[in-house]
Amino acid sequence: MKTPVKPEFGHPPEILEFWKRLVRKALAVNSSTPFYLCSALPITERVAELDHALAYAGFDTGATRRPGKVLCRHWLSCKTQPVAPLLRWWRGQGRPIEVVSEFELRAARSEGFAPAEILVNGPAKHHWLDRHALRGLSVNFDSPAELAVLLPLAKKLDWRCGVRINTSQEFDVENSEFPTQFGFTADEAVAALKKLMRAKARVEAVSFHLRSNLPSAQVYQRALVEVAAVCRAANFAPLMLDLGGGLPARQVLTPGGKVLDGEFGLRAFAETLRVAARQFPGLRELWLENGRFLSASSGVLVVTILDTKERRGQRQLICDGGRTLHALTSLWEQHRLVSLPARTGAEGPTTIHGPTCMAFDRLARLPLPGSLRPGDHLVWLEAGAYHIPWETRFSHGHAAVWWHDAGGLRLARPAQSFEHFWGQWVG
Ligand SMILES: Cc1ncc(COP(=O)(O)O)c(C=O)c1O
Repeated sequence: MKTPVKPEFGHPPEILEFWKRLVRKALAVNSSTPFYLCSALPITERVAELDHALAYAGFDTGATRRPGKVLCRHWLSCKTQPVAPLLRWWRGQGRPIEVVSEFELRAARSEGFAPAEILVNGPAKHHWLDRHALRGLSVNFDSPAELAVLLPLAKKLDWRCGVRINTSQEFDVENSEFPTQFGFTADEAVAALKKLMRAKARVEAVSFHLRSNLPSAQVYQRALVEVAAVCRAANFAPLMLDLGGGLPARQVLTPGGKVLDGEFGLRAFAETLRVAARQFPGLRELWLENGRFLSASSGVLVVTILDTKERRGQRQLICDGGRTLHALTSLWEQHRLVSLPARTGAEGPTTIHGPTCMAFDRLARLPLPGSLRPGDHLVWLEAGAYHIPWETRFSHGHAAVWWHDAGGLRLARPAQSFEHFWGQWVG
C-alpha cells in the first residue's frame, strides 16, 4: 500500500488564523456541521492583485481612471459561487455579473442587477432567453441557431451583442483531441459577425473561455491571435474583448502535489494582454469572468469527525461531510486541511471520508496526527469555487452556508431540513 505524502501548501499563517477565527465564531453560534463559510475579504484581495498587475501593464482598472486606456471590467461568474449575499456584496461594489442560465439571470435580477450590468453567456439560450425581454442586456451568442432565433430580439431590445469563438486552445481537458461544445468555429464566427453587422445589431464584443486553471499566459496569447484573425476576416473591430475566466486558483495542488498556479504569473498575464490588445485597434474594454481565481480562496468547508477506524495500516476518519456531498473538486484537487482544535503528535497514513455509502466519498488521503478524534472539526480550505453549485443531496440534505463581510458574520442559508428535502415531491 502506498504511503500518502504530506502535501506542501503556501498559506501564510495569518490566512489560517483568519479562517480559524471565523469558524470558531460560527461554531459558537451554532455548533452543527457540515457548513460552508464564505467571506468577501479574500475576493477583494484577489481583485486588487489582478488589478494591480493589469494597471502595471497600462490598463485602466476603474480604480484610477486613465483616459484613453483600455478599461478592464470584472464580471462575477455566477455559476462558480451562486451565493445570494455574494451577489449583493458584488453589486454593492458597482460591479457586473455574468450568467449562463435562466435561473442565474433571474437570481441576478432578484438581487437588483440592472440589465446593463448582466452578461448572458452559455449554450442554447434561444430556448429560454426570449422569456426575458430585458432591454440593454449584454449577450454573447454561442451558435448559429441561437443567433438566428434571437437576432430580432437583440435588435428590438438593443442588446450589446458578442460572438463566442471556439479557438484551438479550447478543448476537453480530459481528452485534448476533442473540442468543447461552446461557441462558433472561426468560419461560423466570421459569418455571425457579418450577419450581426448587416442586420445593424449593436455588435460590440468577441469572447472566448478557454478552460479552467490555465497553466500559463501563453495559452491566452495563442487564442488571441486566432480571435484577431476572425475579426480581421469579418472586418470587425470589437469594442470589447471578453477573455472568459481560466486563471488558476491559488494554494491548490494537483493530485500529484503540483501547485496549480505554479507557473502562472499575473504580471506575465497582464503583459501578454497588453501586447495582444494591439491586434484590436479601437478596443475600449477587456472583460474578465474569472471564477476560481477570484472566489476559490473565499470559502471553507467545515466538517466534524464522527467515527474513526483502523484497518490495514490506515486510519480512517468518517466525517459528516466530504466529497460526495460537498467537495467534488477533491477528485482532481488537493486542498489544505486544518483541524480545530489543532492536534499534534505522531502522524500516520489517514483517509478522510464523508458520511455517504460510497467508497468514492474520500475528501483527502494524507499523513495526519493520530490524536485526531471524534468531535474534532476539520476545515477544508479553498472551497469558495464550484463547491456549493456541485453540492449533492446524497442521503443527506444541503449544508448550511455562513457569510462574512464588513458587516460581520451571519447565517446566509440554514442546513436543509427534512421537510424541505422530502417535501419537494408532489406526485
Ligand atoms: C463562459 C465562462 N466564463 C467564465 C467561467 C469561469 O471559469 P473559471 O472558474 O475557470 O475562471 C466559465 C467556467 O466554466 C465559463 O464557462
